[in-house]
Amino acid sequence: MTVDHKQGAVCIFGTGDFGRSLGLRLLQAGYEVVFGSRNPKNSALVPQGSKVMTHTEAARTAQVIFIAVQRDHYEFLTSLTPALEGKVLVDISNNLKRGQFPQSNAEYLSSLVPGASVVKGFNTVSAWALQSGALDASRQVLLCGDDPQAKQAVVNIAHSLGLTTQDRGSLRAAGEVEDIP
Ligand SMILES: NC(=O)c1ccc[n+]([C@@H]2O[C@H](COP(=O)([O-])OP(=O)(O)OC[C@H]3O[C@@H](n4cnc5c(N)ncnc54)[C@H](OP(=O)(O)O)[C@@H]3O)[C@@H](O)[C@H]2O)c1
Repeated sequence: MTVDHKQGAVCIFGTGDFGRSLGLRLLQAGYEVVFGSRNPKNSALVPQGSKVMTHTEAARTAQVIFIAVQRDHYEFLTSLTPALEGKVLVDISNNLKRGQFPQSNAEYLSSLVPGASVVKGFNTVSAWALQSGALDASRQVLLCGDDPQAKQAVVNIAHSLGLTTQDRGSLRAAGEVEDIP
């Protein structure tokens, strides 16, 4: 596959189901895709045309970083705070049940990496829908965040993937968005 990158780089932490599906979709839309992974040398399943690096190296390549990792593992991000300073972190996570944690995942992420701008979104879009292109049922991305510029950067990405967006307010509303799926 020849990849023609026209849209700049987007970083994705995590090479699991959601990360790979989002990566493929971003590549198809003309983005350069750089994964941050615990095992950059052992990530054969990432979409062709993307790159895989350590989290720190990957973070340097892009302004927007999708955190495609379960909330339970977010603590590794605290050791990356210098590399994440000033970055836009997109919290795409869902929980297994409502009210599982006292604090929303996105607010928790923001507390772990206070130098970054966290935007909640994409959690209502499934990996399968992203990969198959069957986005009729879940093409709407609900977004929350406290930094308008960061939110706009994520809106731009969502629109270029053919998704629609709805602004749900500040990061304090993230818990409601996490409860939807
Ligand atoms: N799957 C969906 O349809 C879907 C839809 C909406 C939202 N989400 C959300 O997307 C996130 C990822 O879900 P997923 O389905 O992609 O999960 P997954 O397939 O289990 O992948 C998660 C990835 O996280 C990384 N990871 C695992 N343990 C880690 C640790 N201790 N420290 C750092 N990184 C670790 C791994 O990537 P590396 O091995 O490369 O480090 C792993 O592949 C979750 O928060 C989920 O709620 C998923």
